[in-house]
Amino acid sequence: MRSLGVRLALLYAFVSTATLAVLFVAGYYLLNQHLVSGVDLLNKAEFEQVRAGLGPDFAALNADQIGERIRRTTDAGSVLFFIEVHEKGGGVLFSSSNLNGRRLPDVPGEREFNGRLDGVGELRVGEFVLGSKDVMIGTSLGQVRKVMDGYAEISLVLVCFMLVVSIISGLVLSRIALRPVRLIQETANHIRSDNLSERIPVADVQDEISNLARLLNSMFDRLESSFNQVRRFTAEASHELKTPLSLVRLQAEKLLVEGGLTPAQEEAVQLQLEEIARLKQIIEELLFLSRVEAQAVTPQFVAEDPTKFLKTFTQDARVLAEDRGVKFSEVISGVGRVAYDPKWIRQVLLNLVANALKYSPRGGTIALTAEFTVDSWRVAIEDDGPGVPPEQRERIFERFVRLEGAQDEKGSGLGLAISRSILGLHHGVIRAEGSTRGTGLRVVFEIPIAATAAAEPALPPLATVTTSP
Ligand SMILES: Nc1ncnc2c1ncn2[C@@H]1O[C@H](COP(=O)(O)OP(=O)(O)OP(=O)(O)O)[C@@H](O)[C@H]1O
Ligand SMILES: [Mg+2]
Repeated sequence: MRSLGVRLALLYAFVSTATLAVLFVAGYYLLNQHLVSGVDLLNKAEFEQVRAGLGPDFAALNADQIGERIRRTTDAGSVLFFIEVHEKGGGVLFSSSNLNGRRLPDVPGEREFNGRLDGVGELRVGEFVLGSKDVMIGTSLGQVRKVMDGYAEISLVLVCFMLVVSIISGLVLSRIALRPVRLIQETANHIRSDNLSERIPVADVQDEISNLARLLNSMFDRLESSFNQVRRFTAEASHELKTPLSLVRLQAEKLLVEGGLTPAQEEAVQLQLEEIARLKQIIEELLFLSRVEAQAVTPQFVAEDPTKFLKTFTQDARVLAEDRGVKFSEVISGVGRVAYDPKWIRQVLLNLVANALKYSPRGGTIALTAEFTVDSWRVAIEDDGPGVPPEQRERIFERFVRLEGAQDEKGSGLGLAISRSILGLHHGVIRAEGSTRGTGLRVVFEIPIAATAAAEPALPPLATVTTSP
């Protein structure tokens, strides 16, 4: 069971119902004892009446006289009580008419005991000594049993009722008790690397939950400060590296222009220039990512139907694909208005097509589909390559992640990270899925539709782009 609230509610219901059930069982035995001792008292009172009826000369009476005197005095109770008089260890001197010749049950050595009488059922019997005679008085326990059965039925109904009520009240109580925990969970869920400044609201009390929230908040403080340090370092390092790198490039170019190098030296310098260009691109990409994270860049949005823009892009993509011996197909459908920065969305599309080209076999096909859903513009690029296992499909959007077997040695593993940053600036999403056609990868991005002009103010204000990816 995954919910702590439900577990607590069930535990609470079990404990309270079990407690009530134990109380009812204890009550059952106490009430039973109480009623039986009441019957014992009745038997005793009846015996006193019998003794009084027999008179002080009872020792001299014969069986007929005893019968006659007892009948005279116990007429009124003849329905309620079964009476038997016998000599100690001897024959019966008197047996009340309702016994119909049957003998009352006897338990040797016991003065008050339960027994059964055919045709009557359970009896409570009292055995009293009167000189040399034993007087036994029995009363049916039928009424007592009826009361006890009623008690048991009512108890069972009440226990069931208690079970239902305690489950409901347990669920309500656990919801109330766990509300602060849910709040912590929701806030902690929000806090990601791009909004590390958010904190869990803490009540002004000193209980376990608010102490936990304070602990988490101080952990987020530390996390935010180390994240900021890393960001500052990346931004500053990238920036600082740009100038010396330009100088190295200039020196290398100068060497080439001045001439006088052997062919082997010239080749080495060319190689250097290529690597410098690659390094420069990585530095610029890192700088771009840092600036997006620091919200220091603002896209230049246009709100329009992106179909024309996409058709222009597909012409370039087709040329790129055909150059690599790969087919390019497109299905562009629907009409709608989207607020987007054409330069940056083109950058995303180029990243995706470049990836698809890297992993597509010669003769394969790259398919681009674009459509409008209820609330977004959805573009997907799908290839025939080896694809990416499902568990790695989120990881490839992290920086510098290049999967094993990435055939192309060039590439820094920043393309998809940058694409995700750009989509983030557009309030959109980008994800990788399995291809619908075969083994390949399908990367889909979505940008929300700008419903009316009213949607635009929700986007960041227009500003000059300070860098390009
Ligand atoms: N279409 C694809 N098919 C198979 N694997 C892919 C595909 N696209 C991306 N990948 C995997 O995801 C990794 C990250 O892609 P990403 O575009 O971020 O980096 P890159 O292409 O290696 O380098 P860069 O784009 O910075 O030049 C790739 O290295 C590759 O392992
Ligand atoms: Mg790439």
